[in-house]
Amino acid sequence: MNFDFTEEQLMIKQAARDFAQRELILDVLERDEKSIFPTQHIKKLAELGFMGMMVDPEYGGSGMDTVSYVLAMEEISKIDASVSVIMSVNNSLVCYGLNRFGNEDQKQNYLIPLASGEVIGAFLLSEPEAGSDATHQHTTAEDKGDHYLINGTKNWITSANSASTYIVIAQTHPDKKHRGINAFIVDRNSPGITLGPHEDKMGMRSSDTHSVMFSDVVVPKENRIGEDGFGFKFAMMVLEAGRIGIASQALGLASGAMERAAAYAKERKAFGTEIANHQAIAFKLSDMSVKVENARNLCLKAAWLKDNHKPITLASAMAKQYAADIAMEVTTEAVQIHGGYGYVKEYHVERLMREAKLTQIYEGTSEVQKIVISRDLLKG
Ligand code: CAA
Repeated sequence: MNFDFTEEQLMIKQAARDFAQRELILDVLERDEKSIFPTQHIKKLAELGFMGMMVDPEYGGSGMDTVSYVLAMEEISKIDASVSVIMSVNNSLVCYGLNRFGNEDQKQNYLIPLASGEVIGAFLLSEPEAGSDATHQHTTAEDKGDHYLINGTKNWITSANSASTYIVIAQTHPDKKHRGINAFIVDRNSPGITLGPHEDKMGMRSSDTHSVMFSDVVVPKENRIGEDGFGFKFAMMVLEAGRIGIASQALGLASGAMERAAAYAKERKAFGTEIANHQAIAFKLSDMSVKVENARNLCLKAAWLKDNHKPITLASAMAKQYAADIAMEVTTEAVQIHGGYGYVKEYHVERLMREAKLTQIYEGTSEVQKIVISRDLLKG
C-alpha cells in the first residue's frame, strides 16, 4: 500500500493551512461570538478553488480528488468549522449531487456558478418530524403537469439565508413511501419561500442556520433531479459521500485541539516542570494522538474508495461515526489539559469542543452511522 501523498495533494493541504492559520484565525472569535457570516472568507475559498473542489473544470470546479478535499477540510476545520461546514455542504452535498446526477442543462445553469463559488448552495432534507428518519418526508411536491408545487417546512438548514440554490427533497407520491420522493433544484428567491429566524447555535455560530418554509412554491419540471421517485436514493447517495466531508471536519476539530493542547503542555509549568513532563498529561496526549490518527486513516480510506469508484457506504459511515465521536473526546481532553484557560474563549479549545458536538448530530447522528455499519455487518 502507498501512504504517500502526491505533490499536488500536499500543495492543496498547505494552501488550506496557510489560509486558515493566517486569515481565518484573525476574526474567528468575533464571528463566533456575534454569529457573523464569513462572507469574505467564502470568497477567498472560491478563489482557492475550494468551493467545487471535486467538480470537473468544465463545470466550474477544480478537478481535485477526494483525498485532497479531506486534507483541505482538516486544515480549515482546525481553525474554523463554521467556514468548513459551508464548504462541505457546497462541495459534497450540493455540487456532488448535481455533478453526479444532474443533466447537462442543470449542470450548465446551476453547477457552474456553485462549483466556481460564485453562489452558495444548501441541501434541504431535514424536517421538524423527519431528522434521522429521512424516509418520512412531510414536504410535498405536487405534480401539476409542467411544474411542481412545493409545500412544507425544512429544518436546520445550513446556509439557508446565504445560499442562492437549494436542493430540496420532497414527497410526490405518498402512497409509494420513500420511492415516491423527489429531489429538486429550487431558486432561493422563488415566491413562497420564507425563512425562520437565525438559529442561535451552541457552536459553528458563524454559519447561518434557519428553517425554510415553502408555500405553493412553483418549481419547473426540468428542475427535478433524475427520474420520478429517485429523490430518496439521491439523498442517500449524496449523504454517504457528504459524510466524508463532515468526518474530515471532525478530524480537523480533533487534530486542531490536540495541537493546541500539545503546545500548551510544553509551555505551562506546574510542580516545577512543563506539564507535558507529567505522565498524567503525556498519556492523555498519546491517547489523543492515536485517536486522531485512526480517524485520519478512516477519512482517507473512504476518500480513496470514492476516488477509485468503489462502494463507500460502510467506509464513510465508519469515518463519520468514529471521527465525530473522537472529536468530542479529544476536544474535551484538550480543555482539561488547559485547565481554567481551556474554559475561556481566548484559548479556542472550548469553541472546538462546542463545534465537535455538532459533528455527532448533523449529516446523520452517530447512531444513524451505527445503523448503517451494523446493517452491513449483519446482512450475511
Ligand atoms: N445508497 C443508495 N440507496 C440507499 C442507500 C445508499 N447509501 N441507503 C439506503 N438506500 C435505499 C435502500 O436501498 C432502500 O431502497 P429500496 O426500498 O428501493 O430498496 C431505501 O433507500 C430505504 O432504505 P432503508 O430501508 O435502509 O431506509 P431507513 O428508513 O431504514 O433509513 C437511514 C436508513 C440510514 C437511517 C437513513 O434514513 C438516513 O441516513 N438518515 C439520516 C439522514 C441524514 O443524514 N440527515 C442529514 C441531513 S443533511 C445535513 O445535515 C446537512 C447539513 O446542513 C450539514
